[in-house]
Amino acid sequence: MRVILASSNKGKIQEIQKLLGVEVVPYKDILGELEIVEDGESFKENAIIKAKAIYERLPDEIVIADDSGISVPALGGEPGIYSARYAGVGASDKENLQKLISKLKEKGLERTPAYYTAAIAIASGSGIYTTHGWMWGEVIDEARGDKGFGYDPMFIPEGYDKTLGELDEDVKKRISHRAKALELAKVVLEKIK
Ligand code: IMP
Repeated sequence: MRVILASSNKGKIQEIQKLLGVEVVPYKDILGELEIVEDGESFKENAIIKAKAIYERLPDEIVIADDSGISVPALGGEPGIYSARYAGVGASDKENLQKLISKLKEKGLERTPAYYTAAIAIASGSGIYTTHGWMWGEVIDEARGDKGFGYDPMFIPEGYDKTLGELDEDVKKRISHRAKALELAKVVLEKIK
């Protein structure tokens, strides 16, 4: 069994392949580069938009898409679905992280609750299924450590006293939002294959 991934991020391909235990083929290998407009209003809607866009072109395949981000309740849920472009379209991970740090500083928040969300959409001849996973913790107003990516250096997961930038990467693999959503996606795949 193989699944087509609606992303070409190498880290994601490996992580998903390992967690699902099936062959994962990036859509670009078959279809080339496509521009998919992610204009949904939730992680779930954006994951579905991506999965559908690829599945419409590959109707004999099982297509998986994911969408993820970090939300800070004290900032009204920001950056949320805008996590990848918080500091503007095309912004780097570092610029997005610095923007979130500045927002916390503006509000005088040294530390405040936050959570990561991952939504996964699976499109196949059986229809569209979605799963979610969350990782709760706190964000701090500085970056510590250089492991992980994105907002990891400012995120302290619940039950730990270090950021994901400082913690061993194996810890994140066990507790991450994406790992949890993929666990559930695995159950869906077993049903539809
Ligand atoms: P996308 O799911 O590829 O659209 O990425 C969403 C954005 O959310 C990324 O660019 C990161 O900024 C952020 N993000 C999602 N998951 C993580 C994570 O596990 N660590 C750090 N940042 C993340």
